[in-house]
Amino acid sequence: MSGIPSRERRRVMAGNWKMHKTHSETRAFFAAFLPMIGDAAHCDVVIAPPFTSIAAAVEAAKGSRVAIAGQNNHWQMEGAFTGEVSSAMLVEAGCTHVIVGHSERRQYSHETDDIVSQKSRAALVAGLTPIVCLGENFPERETGRTQEVLSQQFIGGPGALTAEEFSRILIAYEPVWAIGTGRTATPEIAAAAHRFLRQCVRDQFSPEAAAGVRILYGGSVKPDNIQGLMAQEELDGALVGGASLDPRSFAAIVNAK
Ligand code: PGA
Repeated sequence: MSGIPSRERRRVMAGNWKMHKTHSETRAFFAAFLPMIGDAAHCDVVIAPPFTSIAAAVEAAKGSRVAIAGQNNHWQMEGAFTGEVSSAMLVEAGCTHVIVGHSERRQYSHETDDIVSQKSRAALVAGLTPIVCLGENFPERETGRTQEVLSQQFIGGPGALTAEEFSRILIAYEPVWAIGTGRTATPEIAAAAHRFLRQCVRDQFSPEAAAGVRILYGGSVKPDNIQGLMAQEELDGALVGGASLDPRSFAAIVNAK
């Protein structure tokens, strides 16, 4: 038992398209997807297209309840950073959210916990909601270091924000061994990690912050495992990669009760 009071937390279903979908593919996705989710009143729906498809996604999602996210932002507000995109640019393009610290960016672009906290802060200053990702890799889990890694990533990343800043973020627990591998964490494994993260939030901030923060699970979420995952009250939603590319499968995930 974590001893953390439970609180009503609205579910968030977020799709991370990674480096998939052109402008025209984005339009086609929304044309098929929006009618399938109706008003999706039971949850927040977020889609993170690549930068070049954000305009098409914002246009296509107009009038719906689907929010659009960037997949990355820079930690500075502007400057000489070739190839980078600022939080303010994302806001003006119509984004309300941004994914920060995804394991692929930690792995391929060497993003550290400190960069993750700086990017989260830049996003918040611009008015975006950061979806801050963390999670252990396979060797870390195998050697019993999951909690050590999660607590380190938490303290150096979202835990380094002020309490007020922290109250405006979402967290995504994404065990690296489950991402794109088809090896979803069992609902129990995911719930245990979420409980542990909530404990970290309580230690760093307060019981209220721990009860209120929404923690999404990510890693091979599919239409056939979403129900089991969402049955865990610790899981406040999902960050979905591969299965968010197909309108039918992402709609099935969004519509799961
Ligand atoms: P996956 O990706 O659903 O394809 O495992 C999840 C993610 O990377 O956010």
